[in-house]
Amino acid sequence: MKHLTINCEIEVYKYDELSDIEKELIDRAKKATERSYTPYSKFNVGAAALLEDGTIFEGNNQENAAYPSGICAERTTLFYANASKPDKAVKTLAVAAFTNGEFIDDPIPPCGACRQVMLETEQRFNTKMRVLLYGRNNIYAMNGVENLLPLSFGIENLNK
Ligand code: THU
Repeated sequence: MKHLTINCEIEVYKYDELSDIEKELIDRAKKATERSYTPYSKFNVGAAALLEDGTIFEGNNQENAAYPSGICAERTTLFYANASKPDKAVKTLAVAAFTNGEFIDDPIPPCGACRQVMLETEQRFNTKMRVLLYGRNNIYAMNGVENLLPLSFGIENLNK
């Protein structure tokens, strides 16, 4: 028997340590939480995607009385960006979450389905995506979705 170890690298920042554009992305992800539609969870998630041409798209979670029909902020935002500019890579995605009257303390961890869509977004443009997860205490940054989704199933597995 052998053990395989997969390492995920996470950079941990304070807001003031981020570049101006990354601060803007965090600010816009936070602002986008104000437009979430969350009558069921009251957990408002916002995201902002920076494209290679400098465009920024914002999105948020949109819920539904038939719960699985709702969609997370990350997928809303990536699909909005890809639907609007299908030939422009997403360079950076910032995510923030607001509930019970405040932004959450620790960085918001994206759900598995959103991580899978992040991976596809990287692969379709052959461009690594930087992901910024906002928390009031810390901001996590990952250079590439492999740091969020190890042992992933992607395009390369279908081509074998
Ligand atoms: N949600 C997101 O939008 N993104 C995440 O990263 C985690 C969860 C949403 C889905 C649902 O509307 C609410 O948060 C509670 O799960």
